[in-house]
Amino acid sequence: MKAAIYPGSFDPVTYGHLDIIKRSSEIFDELTVCVLNNKTKSPLFSVEERVKILKEATKDLPNVKVESFSGLLIDYAREKDIHVSVRGLRAVTDFEYELQIAQTNRQLSDGDLDTMFLTTSLEYAFLSSSTVKEIASFNGDISQCVPEFVAKLIYEKYGIDR
Ligand code: PNS
Repeated sequence: MKAAIYPGSFDPVTYGHLDIIKRSSEIFDELTVCVLNNKTKSPLFSVEERVKILKEATKDLPNVKVESFSGLLIDYAREKDIHVSVRGLRAVTDFEYELQIAQTNRQLSDGDLDTMFLTTSLEYAFLSSSTVKEIASFNGDISQCVPEFVAKLIYEKYGIDR
């Protein structure tokens, strides 16, 4: 069985992430979306909230499961005996950061965890969770960026009643 992990902050999940999840779930027999901590970011949603949102957003994809982990990605992958990590690449600006994470993980895992990149579909290439949050915080329209139930939760966090 071919299994993969899609790690990320998912704070919260966007249509860009959902595009990568759907396409990788068609490549692998089982895909685990794993919510991890990115120490450089302060999240809007708790890990539990992000897991719940992801579960709802992926409920129609039977081979996708959602989990969280508070340590290193390579430790989680080892624990689950998974050897491929999937990440989306939106633009050249993502490349250096992604290359560094991929090489770090390969090095730290003694070659046990490889990274596979999918290029984000063009219509989502501009999207990031941070931009979505910024637009929402100023009461802007995020309906093209996230599912409706997610948009509602984001506005709620900013105390905006739309
Ligand atoms: O969605 P993001 O914020 O770009 O995802 C980054 C993430 C969460 C995948 C990365 O920060 C991560 O893997 N964190 C877990 C800790 C870890 O394994 N760090 C070593 C690789 S830099």
